[in-house]
Amino acid sequence: MREGQPSKTALGVARGLVFAAADPLLAKVCPPRAGDYAEKILGAQSRTQALELKLLSQSWYRALGRVHERIWIRGGFLHLALRKRFIDDSVRAALQDGTEQLVVVGGGLDTLALRIAEDEPSRPVFEIDHPDSQTAKRRGLDVLPIRPANLHLEAADLAQRSLRDVLSHSARFDATKPTVFVAEGLLMYLEHDDVKRLLDDIATIAPTRSRLVFTFLSADDAGRPVIGHAAARTRFLLKLYGEPLRSGIHPDRLGEYLRERGFALREHWDERRLLARYLPERDAQTTPLLDWEYAAVAGRGEA
Ligand SMILES: C[S@@+](CC[C@H](N)C(=O)[O-])C[C@H]1O[C@@H](n2cnc3c(N)ncnc32)[C@H](O)[C@@H]1O
Repeated sequence: MREGQPSKTALGVARGLVFAAADPLLAKVCPPRAGDYAEKILGAQSRTQALELKLLSQSWYRALGRVHERIWIRGGFLHLALRKRFIDDSVRAALQDGTEQLVVVGGGLDTLALRIAEDEPSRPVFEIDHPDSQTAKRRGLDVLPIRPANLHLEAADLAQRSLRDVLSHSARFDATKPTVFVAEGLLMYLEHDDVKRLLDDIATIAPTRSRLVFTFLSADDAGRPVIGHAAARTRFLLKLYGEPLRSGIHPDRLGEYLRERGFALREHWDERRLLARYLPERDAQTTPLLDWEYAAVAGRGEA
């Protein structure tokens, strides 16, 4: 990330989600309120951003967005809708199955923590992000009429400070309660050792029946994260943003990788399966898919 600036990829994800939520088909997939909140939080960032959001109602601007998507991240809007919905569903399932609090790591401008805190006022919800990104998030949350009292924001650079340290200083976090942790679109921006440290950390914090819901990129034999279409361009752009892709986990080795860190793999989803789950009417053969980011759920102990 560029010093003093919020994560550009977090802004990009929020913008992509607003685009997806404005599409009649993808709107059915996006979690309820996610698009509306993303729009409000983005709109509070700058005048340019607010203007761009106004242009979204223009069909020519949306057509331009689709061209941009085709060139840069083919299948990107669909992917964001599927990813957000899967994470939302998995967190709600974990809460139903007995986890008692939620910790979102690297939350960016995402509103999962906000929406869960609203829907589950008795459960503590924590969101941790890099201080520069969290400043932008707070700016966005400030324009909402109400911020739930059970939503706790903690700022930390996780390359400098451990998650355990952050949570141990948070008065509301109860380390004895089964917890659902979320790392969406985060691990690939951390070095391999930082990913291991984060997962090891979560494993020590999380009591039995806790869960981890996350997304990840695959890795080649040299451990380099693998991305699909327009790889060279995308890598270049992300480097320019100061957010290069740093790590991946080979999907075939995911179970073993998690086991070594004290987790049991429960679910592993690729894009085709997510499409079949949430948009069964769409044919995977003819739908452009962003098929290089995966989603997974892991558990601690008997979870
Ligand atoms: C691609 S964004 C994803 C945001 C959000 N999870 C989502 O999916 O919409 C990556 C997020 O990781 C956070 N991040 C990256 N490196 C970090 C670090 N060293 N410490 C804390 N957060 C970090 C950024 O601030 C940003 O919010």
